[in-house]
Amino acid sequence: MTSANTSQNILDLQGITKDYLLGKTKVSALRGVDLSVAAGEFTVVTGPSGSGKTTLLNIIGCLDRATSGSYKLDGEEVGNRDFDALAEVRNRKIGFIFQNFNLIPVLNVAENIEFPCVVRRGGEGKAALRQRVEALAEAVGLKPYLHHRPDELSGGQRQRVAIARALITEPKLVLADEPTANLDSSTSEQIIDLMLRLNRENGVTFLFSTHDPRVVSHARRALHIQDGKMLQGEFRGAAPHAHAQAS
Ligand SMILES: Nc1ncnc2c1ncn2[C@@H]1O[C@H](COP(=O)(O)OP(=O)(O)O)[C@@H](O)[C@H]1O
Ligand SMILES: [Mg+2]
Repeated sequence: MTSANTSQNILDLQGITKDYLLGKTKVSALRGVDLSVAAGEFTVVTGPSGSGKTTLLNIIGCLDRATSGSYKLDGEEVGNRDFDALAEVRNRKIGFIFQNFNLIPVLNVAENIEFPCVVRRGGEGKAALRQRVEALAEAVGLKPYLHHRPDELSGGQRQRVAIARALITEPKLVLADEPTANLDSSTSEQIIDLMLRLNRENGVTFLFSTHDPRVVSHARRALHIQDGKMLQGEFRGAAPHAHAQAS
């Protein structure tokens, strides 16, 4: 398979603004954000509470629309699409990881992971899908837990399920809004190291938000947002090598 789009950025945002109306008061949550992300990057957006991280990720994830500005996802201008068209783009191109995991409590691990593909009704047979589910469960360290339900798992294990679920549709981009906010610090580091490994091994582009400095220190690219604007001076560098996993 060849892609017509290999040299393009996955994300190109220019002059993105977002205003919310609270009664008659306008809240300017984003005030002209420019952001480009190349395929395969691992980028973290940091900023204090209320700085606009969730608003930005919701727009990038096609869950919400900008008030103004241009947004190209994988080379397609999507900023002007209506909500139905955005949903279609979202299902095709984006995987999500949420801070509260958002697993379906009555489904077991395997069923949670395969859920986005079942909803989508692609042409893939059950057995082939199950094989991909098992491979992903293995990749996130959950192979022995395929038949467990979320309430039988720790927070870190639940987030691993959510990561596998975000990857099962083979999205161009995985978005994670404060994915470690509900995890203790050593579990947070393991989750970030897992995302780094998946990024390195599978080339999946990750963009996530956090205000945890320990998490930021693992990213290769860190951007800072404050009062709805990106601050100058992003950090780019080699991520420290993940500690060798004892297993
Ligand atoms: N649905 C909404 N209605 C009104 N104001 C909102 C809404 N969502 C977010 N805001 C405001 O927009 C700003 C940015 O919020 P948010 O994107 O949630 O920031 P962060 O995720 O960095 O905490 C804040 O001032 C917040 O109060
Ligand atoms: Mg937020």
